[in-house]
Amino acid sequence: MTDTQSISDHWGSGDVYSRILQAMQAAGIDPETVTVEQLAPVDHFHARGFPATIELADELPITAGQRIVDIGCGIGGPARYLAQRFDCHVSGVDITGPFVDAANSLTALVGLQDQVACRTGDGQNLPYEDSVFDGGYSQHVTMNVADRAAFFGEAFRVLKPGAFFALTEHGLGVTGNPHHPVPWSKDGTGAYLIQPSETVAALEETGFSDIQMRGTGDKYLEGYNRAIELAEKGELPVFGVHILLGKQAPQIVRNAARNIEENRTHPIQIICSKPG
Ligand SMILES: C[S@@+](CC[C@H](N)C(=O)[O-])C[C@H]1O[C@@H](n2cnc3c(N)ncnc32)[C@H](O)[C@@H]1O
Repeated sequence: MTDTQSISDHWGSGDVYSRILQAMQAAGIDPETVTVEQLAPVDHFHARGFPATIELADELPITAGQRIVDIGCGIGGPARYLAQRFDCHVSGVDITGPFVDAANSLTALVGLQDQVACRTGDGQNLPYEDSVFDGGYSQHVTMNVADRAAFFGEAFRVLKPGAFFALTEHGLGVTGNPHHPVPWSKDGTGAYLIQPSETVAALEETGFSDIQMRGTGDKYLEGYNRAIELAEKGELPVFGVHILLGKQAPQIVRNAARNIEENRTHPIQIICSKPG
């Protein structure tokens, strides 16, 4: 089994779309009329979910009609949100086939199939022509990426000169050695965290410029602690990302919080650009 296959198996198997539909119905959401906003508790599959996507989007210079690439698009929540908000086109790519299938079915459900299309593929070898996108982003994907030079090189290749590239990830903290399981790995298998300074150096080496980085640990910690509190009170919503995280969800969330508190991980957001 290749490393990529085991990472994909870790994230999603079986009929992810049916599981989401069942949870939607259990939460009283009608699939016939569901909106991008109603899907948000599940389909923004990263720390802090939808609010984090909104805050990132606030900083992106996207205009109507542009072509944007989402590398590691998951089940497509961020892609649909950006497409709807900016009236742009988003191409998503992800190594996890069941996520891509769910992404395309959810996109059809909300009627955005003319603006959003997801396909299976590896961010280290993108299935797109050179210089075709006005911007790109990758939210919480690179923790599983062994070859950062290839991943960033591919993003650089498919972007037009002057395009933006945004990245969020859990970097390696100064203490290192994160507690597992975490969302991206059960036991450390398939996990390739590097320190934020190494990520910046890799982006610079690729050719990206205007690299703006900031720590997001405090905000993530707040989000994780809120989820822990709700879980302890038995008040977690039926329709939430635990559908995707599986049985280990409570432990995963606790570890994600502890790792930040103990400086084992150091979450960051980076926005940079391909020189014009
Ligand atoms: C935490 S989820 C984030 C999904 C999405 N970006 C979001 O924010 O909703 C991580 C995603 O990265 C994908 N992934 C991991 N390694 C990848 C790679 N080399 N190429 C493309 N996708 C990858 C996984 O399949 C998974 O869908």
